[in-house]
Amino acid sequence: MQTSPSPTADAIVSVRDVSKTYAGGFQALKHVNLDIRRGEIFALLGPNGAGKTTLISIICGIANASEGVVIADGHDTVRDYRLARAAIGLVPQELHTDAFESVWDTVSFSRGLFGKSPDPAHIEKVLRDLSLWDKRKNKIMTLSGGMKRRVLIAKALSHEPKILFLDEPSAGVDVELRHDMWRMVRALREGGTTIILTTHYIEEAEDMADRIGVINHGELIVVEDKQVLMRKLGKKQLTVSLQQPLTGLPPALSGQDVELSADGLTLTYTFDTQQDETGIATLLRALNEQGIDFKDLRTSESSLEDIFVSLVRKPAPEAATA
Ligand SMILES: Nc1ncnc2c1ncn2[C@@H]1O[C@H](COP(=O)(O)OP(=O)(O)OP(=O)(O)O)[C@@H](O)[C@H]1O
Ligand SMILES: [Mg+2]
Repeated sequence: MQTSPSPTADAIVSVRDVSKTYAGGFQALKHVNLDIRRGEIFALLGPNGAGKTTLISIICGIANASEGVVIADGHDTVRDYRLARAAIGLVPQELHTDAFESVWDTVSFSRGLFGKSPDPAHIEKVLRDLSLWDKRKNKIMTLSGGMKRRVLIAKALSHEPKILFLDEPSAGVDVELRHDMWRMVRALREGGTTIILTTHYIEEAEDMADRIGVINHGELIVVEDKQVLMRKLGKKQLTVSLQQPLTGLPPALSGQDVELSADGLTLTYTFDTQQDETGIATLLRALNEQGIDFKDLRTSESSLEDIFVSLVRKPAPEAATA
């Protein structure tokens, strides 16, 4: 017998054992389990084709899972579709808007679709926050790509959803407006909205997210608090610039994670940020004992992007046989 899903107390969205096989037989999601916490900003990262949009579409009830259950705001997204959907705002990745409608009409109409009574003051605020107020009378077809994307955000916010999904919201949006958009997202979060976003700008996730999920080939491979992820998987490097070039790595240093540059002038020591001791003292003592003088020391830390790349990198088939 199937066990019923038991969402965690603070979860606003619970994904239980969700798999998706498309009509052609391609399996886009494999047994995904995920709890989204009330009030958090969750970034879902993954390479092209990893399954992000598929997962979001299933949570929002616009695609069916082949297996598994999703509960959103306490409602089964299939059985109680309308109740679940009313709690959700979705900014889809693909731009498709009603070309001949005005910005104002399309956003107002969107609110009505969710059974909410008209609230011009709310629509005005949303349009102003998204710098679309001046364009409110324009037909959608007369807007630029970045503006159309902002109209999609306005539509998603029109019915004041508790949960907001942003699927690649910054694609095609210029830097300044992107910053405005993220300021708005933060303000929404402060107002209690839960936000789930995907982005290919990893530094955006590093900046914004409370937690990070990484999906690759349809499998959710990591879900972690951002700080913990960076501490756990992050590496630090110490770069030592030498006074005189070395012809090879001294035996006293081999066995440690030390590399010598091709010109013999730089030693790079990689260490784990989780260790109690960095090993730097031992390394410097060894350099001293070997009579190796250095002129500079620098440390650097891996970014979320480095961590992401290391998580999703699979050796190329050619490399494996080489
Ligand atoms: N309607 C469909 N029919 C068949 N296969 C599909 C369909 N939609 C998506 N797929 C496949 O499912 C996989 C996941 O697609 P999805 O759009 O979820 O990826 P994504 O992580 O959102 O990628 P991107 O970063 O490019 O937006 C891809 O291999 C894609 O080709
Ligand atoms: Mg996508």
